[in-house]
Amino acid sequence: MTKNKKIEKKKIKKVMKVKNKKSEVRKSSPQREIKKEVKEEKVEKNEDGFEQDTSLKGGKGKTPSLLRGMKDILPKEESYWKKIYHTAEDIAEAYGYGYLETPVMEDAALFVRSLGKGTDVIEKEMYVFEDKDGSKVALRPEMTASAARAYIMHGMHSYPQPVKMWYFGSMFRHDRPQAGRYRQFHQFGCETFGDRDPVIDAELIVVAFNLLNDLGIKSTVYINSIGNLEDRQRYIVELVGYLRAKRSYLCEDCKKRLVKNPLRVLDCKQEECRPVIEEAPQIIDWLSEQSRTYFMKVLEYLDELEVPYVLKPTLVRGLDYYTDTVFELYKDEETGKEKEGEATIEGRQTALGGGGRYDLLVEQLGGQATPGCGFSLGVERVISALRKQNEEQGKTMEEPRSKIFFAQLGEQARRKALGLIENLRKSGIKVYHNLGKSALKGQMELADKYKVLYTLILGQKEVQDGTVIIRDMESGIQEIVDQKKLKQQLEKKLLNLTK
Ligand code: HAM
Repeated sequence: MTKNKKIEKKKIKKVMKVKNKKSEVRKSSPQREIKKEVKEEKVEKNEDGFEQDTSLKGGKGKTPSLLRGMKDILPKEESYWKKIYHTAEDIAEAYGYGYLETPVMEDAALFVRSLGKGTDVIEKEMYVFEDKDGSKVALRPEMTASAARAYIMHGMHSYPQPVKMWYFGSMFRHDRPQAGRYRQFHQFGCETFGDRDPVIDAELIVVAFNLLNDLGIKSTVYINSIGNLEDRQRYIVELVGYLRAKRSYLCEDCKKRLVKNPLRVLDCKQEECRPVIEEAPQIIDWLSEQSRTYFMKVLEYLDELEVPYVLKPTLVRGLDYYTDTVFELYKDEETGKEKEGEATIEGRQTALGGGGRYDLLVEQLGGQATPGCGFSLGVERVISALRKQNEEQGKTMEEPRSKIFFAQLGEQARRKALGLIENLRKSGIKVYHNLGKSALKGQMELADKYKVLYTLILGQKEVQDGTVIIRDMESGIQEIVDQKKLKQQLEKKLLNLTK
């Protein structure tokens, strides 16, 4: 060994010594214990009621925090997300909708032209930025515009009509974050292109209503018609006349809306604007004969399908592409509060979903004239409603993913366990395990934490005998079974649980 290398080795040893000393001090330092306690105290509930650890102290300095209005979806919420996704998928497929996925980032012009310049979503909430080539791009604030773009771009007008598509994905709106309002949220939605018939509108409402119903959420549909373009133009003249006379009672935003987009005043959530909105002329009185007949038919179909609805003359929705039918869905508990005068629907951000007809959208985006209708549900809001309901009924969805834990003791057992776990997995039996742990005590504690019903124990003796111990975690009773019969024994036990 050269002299230089020797010096180098000595230096490394010295540094390692200092490092080890430091980490020993760190391990036993009372400050560290205190910090740990503080961290534990920071476990709090997020807006949806799920516990999340919000402490941000990392190993080396401060951990970059989550952006406002954005959140993680943790494994403990998984059962809710899966339940909603699978129920949505089942119902969409049952009604003949095909899955659509589009990019989360699109040309900003797509949304400006679809949703309308004067809308809150475009004016205040859309994430727009310049791409590296200087073009203006946006994170999608909703999916209807993207679905219409996809319909045009992929020549779907030549498919058998109507074209029915469903989606489930992230949307982005730079809104003021509060309960049930995020900057990144998810929507499940259905869109039907190529058919203008009241039965289509009713079917979409039924799909949204049935999805909530299948999840055990009782809801009511709030519905209105905003007629065709000419109806709306005639109505707006009347509305502006009325609002001008009441201008001083309106919030600052509505004073601006009165000039830019008066219909949006009806959509205002500010308490001070409520009395003016309640007394405003109603669009339904300005509907053409054609739009009125169309709307009556939609309502008749809903009656036929026994979907509970409330006519809401001030419902205009916050996006410009709608024509004729517009609707929103609210959890029954919220509608009840409104009836009792405790809270108004408008004063709360609680719509579980909304939608309507958009017969001009495809043409507006450069496609052939194609009618359309659709809805979206806010997944976070549906999950929050579901979780609250489960809590009230003392139900839990946070079922363990597996009912079995595999514990092993000793190197030989660990090797054998690998193969046994793999065989069980192949036969569809999922097992929790932690092969990195060697002490049985630690593994049994883990099994307790997972709340499994059975723990499989494999030690040296069992490896030699070709057996496994099955421990019933509730009674503590243990039985020894042949490894070759393990799969059948477990299947029998799991089957008995479902009976
Ligand atoms: P929207 O009413 O803007 O309609 O959104 C639909 C649903 O998405 C809302 O009812 C709500 O549940 C959820 N949502 C909206 N914004 C947020 C947010 N910031 N945080 C959490 N959830 C939110 C649309 O987006 C239309 N594209 C619906 C549609 C489909 N119309 C025709 N087809």
